[in-house]
Amino acid sequence: MTVSATPIASSVDELQEEVRELARLRDAVILAHNYQVPEVQDVAHFVGDSLGLAREGARTDAPVIAFCGVHFMAETAAILSPEKTVLLPDLDAGCSLADSITAEQLRAWKAQHPAAVVVSYVNTSAEVKAESDYCCTSGNAKAVVESVPADREILFLPDLYLGLWVERVTGRRLTIWMGECHVHAGIRPADIERWQADAPDAELLVHPECGCASQCMAFGNETTHILSTEGMIRFANDSPKQRFLVATETGILHRLRKEAPGKRFEAVSEEAICRFMKMITLEKLRDSLRDLRHEVTVPPDVAARARLALERMVQTG
Ligand code: 13P
Ligand code: SF4
Repeated sequence: MTVSATPIASSVDELQEEVRELARLRDAVILAHNYQVPEVQDVAHFVGDSLGLAREGARTDAPVIAFCGVHFMAETAAILSPEKTVLLPDLDAGCSLADSITAEQLRAWKAQHPAAVVVSYVNTSAEVKAESDYCCTSGNAKAVVESVPADREILFLPDLYLGLWVERVTGRRLTIWMGECHVHAGIRPADIERWQADAPDAELLVHPECGCASQCMAFGNETTHILSTEGMIRFANDSPKQRFLVATETGILHRLRKEAPGKRFEAVSEEAICRFMKMITLEKLRDSLRDLRHEVTVPPDVAARARLALERMVQTG
């Protein structure tokens, strides 16, 4: 189908209207991660964490998914729904954590632990998922690890800090890959300490990918909560407290403030910005819907080997 070009829109409102109209014409659903820029979140049909987005992508009847997130998220949608057209407005929107292990490295690691079960965080390439038994997100890592028979060794990858947190909450020993997300690892214990001194009564919401998470676990108290991004939104909505310190990528502040407008949210580090997430703009989303670009596909043999691990993920927790 050819979609006629509309005049170049200038304002955010006009661009959003253009995007909505193109989505209608394409019969597309727009999915956006909690770290997307505000104007992209506001035009999406669904905003959520990796688990919510994977479930929504699998469940939607729409033949086209415009994915406002990073590459592994679009690949996940393409694996779970091979019949749908999955668009990523900028193919350079990658993930440094996903890049911290290759399928070849994983095969070598597995060869050293031939009896182990592989649990991969969803922040991995399709090829790594194809070598995995289970996938998980920060929203269900505990439940996924608990679903693995207790007598099996688990290779957990690629995030070191998420792995340490899962060990703590499950009481289970994991063999952990030493990868990290540069954005979350960059949030230092000193950032947390400074805020805890300034606002000791605030609730502290910490993503388990944070380098400071292990510090919070060691020194945290009842006001420290280790949560996925969607877990943070739910927690803030349900809590009677008024003030929250947020240790994750700063894009989440938009949704927190939108959904709980009377409450106060502050980033523990204003520098926690994922440049990959910010590559998706309204203009690129508009162009992607207009020209049906850039389609993310996964070779059928890789997708077939990755699907069971991903299906276990969307069905757990
Ligand atoms: P969530 O699944 O908690 O949204 O996290 C995704 C992510 O990329 C964290 O950096
Ligand atoms: Fe990847 Fe980190 Fe960006 Fe999340 S914040 S997408 S883990 S680089």
